[in-house]
Amino acid sequence: MYTTILTGLNNNIFTITINRPDKLNALNKAVFEDLNKVLDEVYTNDDILSAVITGAGTKAFVAGADITEFKGLTVEEGKALAKAGQDTFFRIENCPKPIIAAVNGFALGGGCELAMSCHFRVASNNAKFGQPEVNLGLIPGYGGTQRLVQLIGKGRAIELLISGNMIDAATALQYGLVNQVFEAAQLLPETYRLLANINTKAPLAIGACISAVNAAFDEARDGYAVEIDAFGFCFATDDMQEGTQAFMEKRKPLFSGK
Ligand code: COA
Repeated sequence: MYTTILTGLNNNIFTITINRPDKLNALNKAVFEDLNKVLDEVYTNDDILSAVITGAGTKAFVAGADITEFKGLTVEEGKALAKAGQDTFFRIENCPKPIIAAVNGFALGGGCELAMSCHFRVASNNAKFGQPEVNLGLIPGYGGTQRLVQLIGKGRAIELLISGNMIDAATALQYGLVNQVFEAAQLLPETYRLLANINTKAPLAIGACISAVNAAFDEARDGYAVEIDAFGFCFATDDMQEGTQAFMEKRKPLFSGK
């Protein structure tokens, strides 16, 4: 079904593995086509409660957009490429189901941008992050200039962007770019453990949290108003009835996602 991506569904956790290890999983046109199809699956398959994105092999998460596809592009073609990449990554960011990046090596350029579009990031201790586009006479085009500022602040973001330097996993943790760092062999098991816990929570409430948090970074929307609406919406859900009832009955809630 996919040519550049491997998928697997276990315990309602969907694993998306970018699978071009000989090219360090660089994002070419085919990967973007597959990513969009895979996101259709995440959005529509009710058996999927959450997803993890990772890279094939031990060396790279994703080492960037595929540089070989840049040669000879016009200004308009460059803008269209950036717009298409941004649109795909907005679909990740706005997905009501949690999508976590498990960064298992180089996350450079478009790879760092892909990881930043996920709801949060965990990394192996050999992970490396960077936006090296200035080495190519370019800048990030898939949201990197915006999300890097949101995640690590303006000064650190500008330094990374204009130096092209890479940071290691420990620095990424200190910057708040990743939430946790694990031994490489433990990265996926620990990510699954995190998601197994999240999967026991109310799915509609999870989606509402994601939407309200995203509204904080959208100047067109009043995040506080979005929160009020989302809070009110929860009262109409079966899961809110179940969650409060279970609390009073001193038992664990069993959420239906309705
Ligand atoms: N686009 C296309 N191909 C890429 C790539 C990218 N972003 N990143 C790596 N590759 C390819 C290499 O060309 C090489 O292919 P080849 O074996 O056919 O020559 C293969 O992946 C392995 O990479 P290599 O450079 O040999 O590995 P390395 O360990 O020496 O270096 C990196 C690893 C990540 C430092 C280096 O590959 C690199 O700098 N990549 C580009 C990073 C970048 O600028 N990303 C932003 C793009 S906008």
